[in-house]
Amino acid sequence: MQAIVMTGVGGPDVLVAREAPTPHPGVGELVIRAEAIPVLFPETKLRSGEFPLAVEPPLVFGFQAAGVVTEVGPDVDAGLIGQRVAVATTGFGAYAEFVCVPADSITPIPDGLSSDDAAAIVMNGSVALALLHTAALTGTETVLIEAAATGVGSALTQLAKEFGAARVIATAGGPQKAAQARKLGADEVIDHTDPHWPQRLRETLGDATVDVTFDSIGGPSATAVLDAMTPVRGRMLSYGWLSGAPAEVTATDLITRGLTLTGCAGPDWLARVAHARTETLRRAATGSLESVVETVLPLEQAGLAHQLVESRSPIGKIILRPGPIAG
Ligand SMILES: NC(=O)c1ccc[n+]([C@@H]2O[C@H](COP(=O)([O-])OP(=O)(O)OC[C@H]3O[C@@H](n4cnc5c(N)ncnc54)[C@H](OP(=O)(O)O)[C@@H]3O)[C@@H](O)[C@H]2O)c1
Repeated sequence: MQAIVMTGVGGPDVLVAREAPTPHPGVGELVIRAEAIPVLFPETKLRSGEFPLAVEPPLVFGFQAAGVVTEVGPDVDAGLIGQRVAVATTGFGAYAEFVCVPADSITPIPDGLSSDDAAAIVMNGSVALALLHTAALTGTETVLIEAAATGVGSALTQLAKEFGAARVIATAGGPQKAAQARKLGADEVIDHTDPHWPQRLRETLGDATVDVTFDSIGGPSATAVLDAMTPVRGRMLSYGWLSGAPAEVTATDLITRGLTLTGCAGPDWLARVAHARTETLRRAATGSLESVVETVLPLEQAGLAHQLVESRSPIGKIILRPGPIAG
């Protein structure tokens, strides 16, 4: 089968199109023929070596796909064959024509939702829903959504008011991304490419404070954001480190301001995210969550797809498609 092999740790050119053995399902597994493979921000970090790899290359790269079930393991319901599903692998193997996954990790794709749209929204939406359920907004609170124009931030921005935000302040990089964040539902947008953006946040707030921060930038700006948060009630949910480092926040920083930080990572967190996949695809199919696809590229252009993600230019998800691109 056609696959993208990560040949080593490094630049996008370590992703090489090669023939690889077609996987067959074992006990508790199934195989899909992939129609749409989303390129994920954390994948670029694993490829570059910024995040540690659990296994040594060479390996078939990628974590998620959407497509049609073609084969099931001996103990798996054969009625699944022919169904369209979104899948997450347990560790690599998704940048390929055929993808093998645990059968209990699939999410059926509702009729009317394309595989491209399902692949583009499933992670953004399920992480956003898990964050919003965890935040338990009261209906009167001000939230800060960092990096709101794309990815998880874009889904958070679309859903925040429905989940009880009264005022949504967002950050984005540059005018085009700021316009996108506003279109998605942000009331005010601050340009986070300004190194002094937490100061701009305080100016935007005036006498008000932020009750909940969805922190995806991390690094030193997280500490500066704490000064703009509501004492005693303020919660920071830390789920990403786009700046290259997690929120540089100490217990003393939190205690002296009376704030809470919730770390949104690890196996139990990921189980919560996985639980939200069905609701995500239902919402995308019924229109209460918009899936944004930047472009669809042939699978063999995975390296170019990583370059584009690293350029920070895309507004939506880049989708890889095995075989010829139709239309
Ligand atoms: N904990 C979890 O469950 C979980 C799950 C998925 C993702 N994540 C994390 O969440 C973060 C966002 O992931 P995603 O999939 O939403 O990403 P994405 O869709 O690729 O969006 C990344 C966006 O972040 C902005 N960005 C990039 N580098 C930045 C920097 N140094 N400072 C500020 N903004 C920067 C860029 O937007 P601008 O052009 O507007 O700057 C870029 O378009 C990542 O850190 C990822 O690892 C966590």
